[in-house]
Amino acid sequence: MHDASCIINVIHCNSLIKMTNTLYNADALDVLIKLSDESVDLIYTDPPFNTGDVQVSKRTGLSYSDKHDDYISWMHAWVSECHRVLKKNGTMYLHLDDHNVHKARCFVMDKIFKEQNY
Ligand SMILES: C[S@@+](CC[C@H](N)C(=O)[O-])C[C@H]1O[C@@H](n2cnc3c(N)ncnc32)[C@H](O)[C@@H]1O
Repeated sequence: MHDASCIINVIHCNSLIKMTNTLYNADALDVLIKLSDESVDLIYTDPPFNTGDVQVSKRTGLSYSDKHDDYISWMHAWVSECHRVLKKNGTMYLHLDDHNVHKARCFVMDKIFKEQNY
């Protein structure tokens, strides 16, 4: 069974589509592209870490393949959209582990948000 729970758990925003306090079960990118620029105050992300394993929830039994052939490109796509929709004074949290956090910092976050905003 595939768990496609949304990376963006709760978003507070005033956007093209009404999303305040709404939980979407969808691909994060499909949701993000519907939001208008600089409309979101806070983004908290807990994406797959690219461990190479199948991750199974002990609580629900749902699982997902935690393996991306091009993890950094995949991240770049949705982090770019996060950057676009985030307000200038907004905050984004990226929750990762030691598998890829260094690459995500250098090749995604610093490139998109710029080092001085990290
Ligand atoms: C590290 S887990 C986070 C689990 C979550 N924080 C929780 O406590 O249940 C990553 C989650 O991202 C989901 N996911 C994977 N690809 C996704 C995508 N393209 N869009 C939205 N969610 C995705 C997975 O199904 C998984 O539930």
